[in-house]
Amino acid sequence: MCVLKKRQGYLRFGIAGMGVGALSVLSAISQSQYSSLVAGADINGEVRRRFNEAFPRCRVYDSVDALCADESLDAIWISTPSRLHADHAVLAASRKKHVIISKPMATTLAEAERMVEACERNGVKLIAGHSLGFSPAIIEMATLARSESGIGKVRVAQLVAFTDWMLLPRTPEEVDERLGGGIIHRQSPHQIDALRILCGGRAESVRGYAGTWMKERKAPGFFSAFIQFDNGALGTASHNGYGYLVGSEIVPWGADVGIGGSDIQQRALTRRSLREGTTDEEALKDSMRLGGSSPLFARQTTKKPWLPLHLGLTIVSCDRGDIRHSPHGIYVYSDDGRRELSVGDDTSWFGRSEIEELYQAVVNGRELYRDGAWGMATLEVALAIQKSSTSRTEIKLRHQTSVRPNAFSATQNPRQDDGTCRACMEREDNDA
Ligand SMILES: NC(=O)c1ccc[n+]([C@@H]2O[C@H](COP(=O)([O-])OP(=O)(O)OC[C@H]3O[C@@H](n4cnc5c(N)ncnc54)[C@H](O)[C@@H]3O)[C@@H](O)[C@H]2O)c1
Repeated sequence: MCVLKKRQGYLRFGIAGMGVGALSVLSAISQSQYSSLVAGADINGEVRRRFNEAFPRCRVYDSVDALCADESLDAIWISTPSRLHADHAVLAASRKKHVIISKPMATTLAEAERMVEACERNGVKLIAGHSLGFSPAIIEMATLARSESGIGKVRVAQLVAFTDWMLLPRTPEEVDERLGGGIIHRQSPHQIDALRILCGGRAESVRGYAGTWMKERKAPGFFSAFIQFDNGALGTASHNGYGYLVGSEIVPWGADVGIGGSDIQQRALTRRSLREGTTDEEALKDSMRLGGSSPLFARQTTKKPWLPLHLGLTIVSCDRGDIRHSPHGIYVYSDDGRRELSVGDDTSWFGRSEIEELYQAVVNGRELYRDGAWGMATLEVALAIQKSSTSRTEIKLRHQTSVRPNAFSATQNPRQDDGTCRACMEREDNDA
């Protein structure tokens, strides 16, 4: 239940598209001290009904156009299918709303360019968000390598992910590469952002490989990339989403649990049912959306040990040592042995840190560090993986940006909020 209280100094948010990816966004917007959830839009009537039930004081619209016309909103978080991101961002910008876009930013560079241009022309901010590459542990690793810690510069960063991404219930467009589907479009932004943060941001060239190994899924479920950075650092990333082995089993504190919570036997059953065509993917996906019956994406505790799922096992080799994740932070291996630095185990930064970044930019004039140009550079790397795999050549990059220094000084663990649900406070304020 909402505990309503009058409060000044937050951004009034609307959310466009309220599917599975929107769940953590809804919770971030409604709980951050920097935002209030005021409205949502979705073309699916059942999703709108469930949103209304969960946030009864919020306005709900059946189109992004109507949402963007809502005069009371300062910002829109766009979580519609990837192929619609550009149109919806341009629409929001044209109505003078700031934009946070869920990864991937777009499906082509031309779309990303259009988004950046529209936001600049309308004087609004654009954040390329929802990427685990900005997690506190990755920022801590990069900060350590930039500091006088003695470990020296990053030479090679390697990320190896094994998940069951391809086995989760998917809409047809999620497994159609032309529409932004498959593991490269959908998952590589996490790893590319992490590599860019660790290796300075400006990738020079990419050699990539994509694998489509499951005939029931037409889009790639595997990729591997070799990314050369302009400062000499090398980043490698791979993700196998077919769900035989999952990365959480590899660390001593982990167990055989995929992204959706299933173990190896459950994953085998899912695979068999996909092969036999007996899976009702539409119904299963719907059950994972807001208010649905699936326990998979039910609200989870925010305090849990890190597992190598979307980002994968991450090993950063520096001049004089190596760094990797520990259960609640990072392990640093150096000439002095191994030490652990805690970064906390609160995962609520995901979503909230974008909101705080936008608030600080809009209210206090601070520079964004994952702006449209950053997102476009990450997209360029992802698209280069696809292109390189087809052409079997190395792809040179042209749209790269450096990591902004404030990415390291920004609050990576947003202040703990008081648990108040701030959905619809704007309306309460109006009523008062
Ligand atoms: N699934 C995740 O865990 C996850 C996590 C982070 C980011 N994302 C991103 O979120 C986006 C959506 O993915 P998803 O998994 O939530 O898919 P989804 O199908 O569950 O959600 C998309 C929602 O958008 C709605 N929609 C479609 N067309 C629309 C339109 N024209 N106007 C308004 N609403 C519309 C759909 O009805 C649906 O409710 C993708 O870009 C994805 O990369 C997903």
